Amino acid sequence: MSLLDELNQLRTDALAAFAAAADAKALEDARIKFIGANGRAKALLGQLGKAPPDIKPQAGKLGNQIKNELEAAYESAKAAMGGAAAEAGSAFDINEPLPVDARHSLGRRHPMTRTIDSLVDIFHALGFEVVEGPEIEDQRHNFDDLNIPADHPARDSFDTFFLSGNKQALLRSQTSTVQVRMMETRTPPLRVVAPGRVYRPDPIDATHHSTFHQIEGLYVDKNVSMADLKGTLKLFVGGLFGEDTKVRFRPSFFPFTEPSAELDCTCPACGGTACPVCKQTGWVEMGGCGMVDPAVFEAINAARGDNAYDPAVWSGFAFGFGIERLAMRRHGITDIRRFLENDMRFLRQL
Ligand code: DAH
Repeated sequence: MSLLDELNQLRTDALAAFAAAADAKALEDARIKFIGANGRAKALLGQLGKAPPDIKPQAGKLGNQIKNELEAAYESAKAAMGGAAAEAGSAFDINEPLPVDARHSLGRRHPMTRTIDSLVDIFHALGFEVVEGPEIEDQRHNFDDLNIPADHPARDSFDTFFLSGNKQALLRSQTSTVQVRMMETRTPPLRVVAPGRVYRPDPIDATHHSTFHQIEGLYVDKNVSMADLKGTLKLFVGGLFGEDTKVRFRPSFFPFTEPSAELDCTCPACGGTACPVCKQTGWVEMGGCGMVDPAVFEAINAARGDNAYDPAVWSGFAFGFGIERLAMRRHGITDIRRFLENDMRFLRQL
């Protein structure tokens, strides 16, 4: 057999052996046999120098070509076997394509989390710090220190889940609790927002749930005015729905603010021209707000045992918005229950 024939035979045998290798061990044996330091390729290539002059150039070229080809064939056989996993004798084939269902299903954040993140981003840019408070609360933080005395009819509007017979432990019915917690532990000035979950034993329907989220804001400083409140909320709503969004205050009542207002903004769906989202009014409700009632400052001072929130020195504004409502408007969701069902068909759409 001429040297050329031997080279071609080597190629045929080696390629067949690499292709037939059923496991890493067989492949390694084939590598040693054909392209290893003492393998057949090395021996044949060693003979090239002594080849007859008429075939020498051709044999040299073929020899190199086959050497490269066999090395490449070995590498791809090894890769196909699954590299390290196959070498470790694993039963998993990491090269196996995923079933179609499993593709593109990288996790994503829940629409509620994403809405909270974007609200927080806007307030952050306005200089507010993000804080949190506990969901299990007591009467003092949920009611008393917010100027909602026991047996006052205002308590009825904050229907509450109580966790103990003596009604001391409860699930907070509003994030206004965090105002109390912040003022108890920090001295003014204060500029915080507190997003979080709240609970109310409301009948559940498309627009009401017993579990939902609010974002609370509190700003305490010297000379804080209603104009600061309106300016801040205008910037917030502009960041959320676009700079052209208009805001208006409607007089309202909350025990912890005086004066109190409801904030409306021009409907983000129609821009204020009237549509089903705003029930043809051009305006949608955002939530409650107002100037911190001096009675709240006094209650905080009593709890602290000092006069850190002297109403003669400090004033403040506060606000509280329902987050589900904002998210529903933003994504065109018509049923609040969707947020808690964890139905993948719903979550994947957002
Ligand atoms: N806590 C109120 C509620 O749940 C909302 C609210 C109104 C919060 C006015 C405030 C405020 O901070 O100033 O209905």
